Amino acid sequence: MAQQFGDYQLEIYLGGLGGVVPELPMSFAELAARAEAAMSPGLWSYVAGGAGDEHTQRANVTAFEQWGLMPRMLTGAAQRDLSLELFGLRLATPLFMAPVGVVGLCAQDGHGDLAVARAAARTGVPMVASTLSQDPMEVVAKEFGATPGFFQLYTPADRALAESLVHRAEAAGFRGIVVTLDTWVTGWRPRDLSTANFPQLRGHCLTNYTSDPVFRRSLAQPPEQDPAAAVRHWAGTFANPLSWADLPWLRSLTSLPLILKGLSHPEDVRRAKDAGVDGIYCSNHGGRQANGGLPAIETLPDVVAAADGLPVLFDSGIRSGAEIVKALALGATAVGIGRPYVYGLAVGGEDGIVHVLRSLLAETDLLMAIDGYPTLADLTPTALRRR
Ligand code: FNR
Repeated sequence: MAQQFGDYQLEIYLGGLGGVVPELPMSFAELAARAEAAMSPGLWSYVAGGAGDEHTQRANVTAFEQWGLMPRMLTGAAQRDLSLELFGLRLATPLFMAPVGVVGLCAQDGHGDLAVARAAARTGVPMVASTLSQDPMEVVAKEFGATPGFFQLYTPADRALAESLVHRAEAAGFRGIVVTLDTWVTGWRPRDLSTANFPQLRGHCLTNYTSDPVFRRSLAQPPEQDPAAAVRHWAGTFANPLSWADLPWLRSLTSLPLILKGLSHPEDVRRAKDAGVDGIYCSNHGGRQANGGLPAIETLPDVVAAADGLPVLFDSGIRSGAEIVKALALGATAVGIGRPYVYGLAVGGEDGIVHVLRSLLAETDLLMAIDGYPTLADLTPTALRRR
């Protein structure tokens, strides 16, 4: 029998009989408020902020309100099954943790990447580990337990370095490579600009580079001896404004599933599919990169149609089980959690992430129970009505 994630609420209510009330927040608003209190102002701005006046970031969340799930009664939804098969892997849940480059800094001990990996091991919710991490990918991957992990690549301009990163990810046991396409230049972020704060330029989250043999060979001195020069070299090679002509090269780097992150236009999806990618990742980077765009959820249906059977990962704007159910019904194969798990980490460390994931899963499961959609296959666009 599949795990019944909604049982988390029973656990909490039963705890209440013994006088135990949850220490960790039960609503997103409280989670965000407590995360803000737990973080330095600069880090909070970096994590919570987005591009421009953050209109797209807000719309990513509010656009979900345009859709409603139509309840169906008497469907026998007493047992739910949220498991799925993705890239040949059996996953207990349709959730994953989206790559977040500064998650390492969001833990009190500065090792947030390890806390995320351990939370993945405990919950079965995979981590997509960012290229920008406080601990090298090999160290992170050791914490995954039985849960598969994915490596997110920011493709460096230096092709040899890109190849090295991908091959290290393969050797470390990652089960897929997610190439992020929308961040070869940083979006205009007034919150960070007003404090002139860009963490990587301050030397943070660069361990995948400083531990890389190709990166190290291109430095006059080891990064431990001249960290400023290493950061300068990183800044020079970080960005690769890839074009379609580069896709065959990217494809040739690995036989692992290759997933392209940041696709919204159906024509781009069709071209990616023709180029032999294994998955499409529909996302607008949580509104951090380009302001003035459509809410990501509005682009999902056309992406799913163009993907024509290829798995579609989705993120941007997921704050509760309601958004998860709607994204699944609109055709997402798996749904990425971004800021909420980072806030959970800031508030409660590894346990905080586990709590956030369990809460999201519980609410998703209970919505599927109450609304009468017991499996992921039951969640189709016909389950939704537009307001
Ligand atoms: C991100 N995101 C991101 N994406 C990526 O591919 N590589 C990365 O290193 C990062 N770094 C990063 C840092 C921070 C602080 C945030 C908030 C986000 C984007 C992330 O994967 C995801 O697309 C968004 O977080 C989804 O939006 P919401 O749901 O968090 O609003």
